[in-house]
Formats: sequence, structure tokens, C-alpha cells
Amino acid sequence: MRSKANIKGHPIHPILIPFPIAFLIGTLVFDILRVTTGNSSYWQTGGYLEIAGIITALIAAIPGVIDYFGTVPPDSSGKKRAATHGLVNLTLVVVFAIAYTLRDDSSVGLIIALESVGTIMLFVSGWLGGTLAYRNQIGVDIRYAGAGKWNEAHIANSSGLIEVAAAGELKTDQMKLIHIGTKRIVLGNTGKGYVAFEDRCCHKGGSLAGGAMICGTVQCPWHGSQFDCKTGAVKAGPAKDDIAVYPVQEKDGVVYISV
Ligand code: FES
Repeated sequence: MRSKANIKGHPIHPILIPFPIAFLIGTLVFDILRVTTGNSSYWQTGGYLEIAGIITALIAAIPGVIDYFGTVPPDSSGKKRAATHGLVNLTLVVVFAIAYTLRDDSSVGLIIALESVGTIMLFVSGWLGGTLAYRNQIGVDIRYAGAGKWNEAHIANSSGLIEVAAAGELKTDQMKLIHIGTKRIVLGNTGKGYVAFEDRCCHKGGSLAGGAMICGTVQCPWHGSQFDCKTGAVKAGPAKDDIAVYPVQEKDGVVYISV
């Protein structure tokens, strides 16, 4: 799913996160060096790294929050994972900030203990972030053969017959994610006509618009469940239930769906 916070399709969050990771782990390393060598300049460097780590973590959080609300599919296992990822990050930043405020020679043991806890949380958060990127494909701008560029539109909340595309807008096997109020609907061109179906895989909530549609079948990008785009029937698991489909009409060069 293409990131909402991107530069030419490249997600910004992964560009920024190496900075707080390096700075905050560096903080712990330099503070331990201070204790083991007795050299106070390591302590000073640790303090600078701690400030840099906290500031860059807050900056990196901005595109992360944008992706949480705009990219991660709602009501999905990925959404829960992303919420945990954000919460762990927020907590570890607070832990490092507390360590920084305590920073004087008499509290070295407590400071290193806090920074050790923060560093462990950093690894947990990194693990969750890696799963979001490499398994849930959050921020991945998927381009399977013939799929074209990511296509998404927002339409004001309404019901009845809604204009969603021009008739020639999508080539065969291309999809468009349409938001109508809080509804997420995928419009697809099967080559034998347009189809519309819900954007939520009923297994764990993967976004079908981020998957692949070939020969009238859409495959979920998360665990490979397949659905008939016209009827919504599940053709291959692990999903067990069908997805909702919506009536589509083409008239005078315009595609409409009924919701
Ligand atoms: S979320 Fe698991 S197959 Fe779609």
C-alpha cells in the first residue's frame, strides 16, 4: 500500500528512523563507556546523542502517524500492530527523556538502567515496524505487471448511484481504491467490464486494492486469499468468507457504482 507520506512514492518514515535508532543506541553505548573508562567526555557525547535521538524520533513520528491514519488498512491485524508499534515508540522516547532529565553523575546507574529498557523497546518496536513493512507491505508501492500506478480517490459520503471513474480510466486488471465516506471500495477493470468490491479481506483485513487482480480474481497481498471480483466468492483461503460486491454500470463514458 503506497504511503501517504512519500517522496515520489518512496515512504518518508523509513528514511528517518535510522537516525533515532543510531542516536539512542549510541547514547547507551557512550554512557556505558563513561562508566567503564571513567572518561567524562563520553558522558557529554551520550547527552548530545540523547537529545538528538529524542528530537529525530519525534520528527520520524510525523510520517509514521500520517501512515497510521492514511495507509494502514482500518480494522486489520496491521492496524493493531501499527498501534502497538507507535505506543512502544512513544513510551521509549519518554523513557529516554526521563533519563536525560536525571542526567548527572550521581544517577549514572539509574540512567543506564532506563536507557537499557529504552533500547530493548527500540528493538521490539523495530521488529514490529519490520513486520509492518515486509509482511503487511505498508508503504510498499506495489506494481505487478500491467497494474499501473496506485490510483485512489475520495468521494463525499453519499448513497445511491455514484460516479467513480471515466470509462477508459482503468486498463485491464487495473484497480482504483475509492473512499466514499468511511467505506473503502475497489473498482477494477477485468477486461470484460468493471467490478466493484469491498477493500477489506475478511481474513485479517488486508487491503485488496494493494493486491493483484488477474482474470477477474483478486488476491490479497497479506496471505494470498483469492476472491471472485464479480460475485465476491472466496476462491482460495485462508479467508473463509466472501467479500461484499457492489453493482456497477457504465453509461455515456462514465462508470457508476451503487452503494
Ligand atoms: S488478510 Fe490474510 S489473506 Fe487477506
